[in-house]
Amino acid sequence: MITVSNLTMEFGADSSRIRVLDNLNFSLKQGDTVAIVGPSGSGKTTLMQLLAALEQPTHGNIKIGQQILSQLSPDELADFRRDNMGIVFQSFHLIDSLTALANVAIPLDIAGSPDASVRASKMLEKVGLKKRVGHYPQQLSGGEQQRVAIARALVHEPKLILADEPTGNLDDKTGGKIADLLFDLHAQSQSTLVLVTHDMRLAKRCKKLFWLESGKLRVEDNCELSA
Ligand SMILES: Nc1ncnc2c1ncn2[C@@H]1O[C@H](COP(=O)(O)OP(=O)(O)OP(=O)(O)O)[C@@H](O)[C@H]1O
Ligand SMILES: [Mg+2]
Repeated sequence: MITVSNLTMEFGADSSRIRVLDNLNFSLKQGDTVAIVGPSGSGKTTLMQLLAALEQPTHGNIKIGQQILSQLSPDELADFRRDNMGIVFQSFHLIDSLTALANVAIPLDIAGSPDASVRASKMLEKVGLKKRVGHYPQQLSGGEQQRVAIARALVHEPKLILADEPTGNLDDKTGGKIADLLFDLHAQSQSTLVLVTHDMRLAKRCKKLFWLESGKLRVEDNCELSA
């Protein structure tokens, strides 16, 4: 479902130029679960931004389904993202002027879903925020904002879920619940789940582990699960 070929990402110019991702190659099947782990600054978020086509690579390409991302115009990419992806960013990117409910309903509203509010409200209940539907982002804690962002990413049941440290701001118990939700939704819709995490317990729930360090990626089948 996803094929990444010769993917290289560099930032900066001349002597300050840095190569964050160095010629990565991997493929994922529909329904795979992958944890990307590695030290801070190793390029995990950069890789997620490239998979989400929010950045263009310096070299190489990414194919999702039959589509090579670099062949799409910005408008086509926005449509492709909307139809196929659920993205949870490391910073939540909630819209401050909208309530939690309205934030979660955005993907459904855009898709013209007639029952957007009902579905958004059910999803907020699943992430434990039933009593916060009318709150604005500034009235929510960091972990609550993170859960709204997760609800928004999952509400339209995307085929590809990209989550950058989805439990990074949550306590163990809430984090565990959110992880359960991610894996439940993945199992229900056979979506591909790619998540970045520093939490090895969460990483170990994924079928594959991607270790990112010094620009290189080491792919491992997750021994605990494949054993
Ligand atoms: N737009 C940019 N311009 C210049 N350098 C950048 C840019 N984005 C990222 N970098 C650099 O690329 C490297 C990788 O950043 P990235 O955010 O992908 O790391 P990360 O693995 O997600 O780290 P963390 O675990 O701290 O979130 C960092 O050294 C960062 O400074
Ligand atoms: Mg990051």
